[in-house]
Amino acid sequence: MGLKYKAAVLHAPKSPLIIETVEAGELAAEDVLVRVKAVGLCHTDLEVIEGSLRNPMPILLGHEASGIVEQVGPNARGIAVGDHVVLSWNPHCGHCFYCDRDLPILCESYLGQAPLAVQFDGRSRARLSDGRELKHLMYLGTLAEYCIVPAQQAIVVPKELAFDQACLIGCGVMTGVGAALNVASIHYGDSVMVIGCGAVGLAAMQGARMAGAGVVIAVDLDDNKLDLAKQLGATHAINAAKEDVIDLSRQLTDGRGVDVVLESAGSARAFRMTSEVVRPGGEVIWLGKVDVAQDVAFRWGSLMQEKRIRRSSYGGARPLRDFPMLARAALDGRLKLDQLITARISLEQVNEGFEALRRGTAIRSVVVL
Ligand SMILES: NC(=O)c1ccc[n+]([C@@H]2O[C@H](COP(=O)([O-])OP(=O)(O)OC[C@H]3O[C@@H](n4cnc5c(N)ncnc54)[C@H](O)[C@@H]3O)[C@@H](O)[C@H]2O)c1
Ligand SMILES: [Zn+2]
Ligand SMILES: [Zn+2]
Repeated sequence: MGLKYKAAVLHAPKSPLIIETVEAGELAAEDVLVRVKAVGLCHTDLEVIEGSLRNPMPILLGHEASGIVEQVGPNARGIAVGDHVVLSWNPHCGHCFYCDRDLPILCESYLGQAPLAVQFDGRSRARLSDGRELKHLMYLGTLAEYCIVPAQQAIVVPKELAFDQACLIGCGVMTGVGAALNVASIHYGDSVMVIGCGAVGLAAMQGARMAGAGVVIAVDLDDNKLDLAKQLGATHAINAAKEDVIDLSRQLTDGRGVDVVLESAGSARAFRMTSEVVRPGGEVIWLGKVDVAQDVAFRWGSLMQEKRIRRSSYGGARPLRDFPMLARAALDGRLKLDQLITARISLEQVNEGFEALRRGTAIRSVVVL
């Protein structure tokens, strides 16, 4: 294709991303070329940099992005040049065992190829200036001026939504709001606890309100994040570093425990907490993750009494259905996205953005291109 553009490349774990000129690969018949406009820095990108999520290198990171379609392959349906899009990281075949059971997140082709870090047809869509092939994190790799993806991963959203807000829908917001609306069964008036108030948790909290929760308890270790949680609809806030979360959750629920717990902290301590604070018969949804080789311990008694525990990826996302819905909720003011953006930075500042995420001082740093 010959298109040359700037991208942030990770050559090895525990090293800074390097901004360099790369070259686009072929645009396949089903593909679209997206000019990337905004990218949120998510914890999962950081896990690849830190080495706890292992991927082949050199790799393009970034999987929470919005942009404008600049070129459309002859077989790319339902999309046109000029469309504003949010990118999905869950391409799926539509006709395997799991796709047939309405679980595209377990699609056999999707999961089978993910460790190779290629695009969904098994090929890369970018190379370094020396000709070496680049890998793509999560079938994307959007920390770049351009990204080529199959049309099924580019979801058209209303043009009125600003790119820096729209990008958040692509991962953190979909995961959090989706956990509340698609995965958990929250009933009107229910008590919901959200553990971890990063972008995923703050979205989960807003999703719980959208689902009709009456009591929304935010838990974090950082008072600033808890203040923001209250602005975004939490009715109560608990600092787990200073207060007894189990005791307070009982006080707020007539001694029973909460109806639904949404975990979005990604720590063993938080996972353990979930089964302690949920009521008998209640529901726990885990969104966070630790290193896949790490053990996590639970008190057996906390797992008993008809509790339902589920680990969910991507909030039960059906991007074609959910991204426009989330965009409309944002435009209507029911979903607050602007407050999740701590900083707008350039591609050249990407390493500082990840450093802020590591230190916990940013909800989302958004790279604006
Ligand atoms: N399931 C998915 O599809 C999916 C998608 C995106 C991210 N994630 C995961 O979700 C988690 C959250 O992502 P994020 O981008 O919001 O991360 P983040 O680092 O911005 O937020 C995590 C928050 O949890 C808090 N925290 C940490 N330990 C805690 C504890 N013991 N008790 C209470 N709070 C605690 C931190 O202070 C922080 O505010 C990560 O583990 C990430 O890998 C999962
Ligand atoms: Zn499939
Ligand atoms: Zn993510």
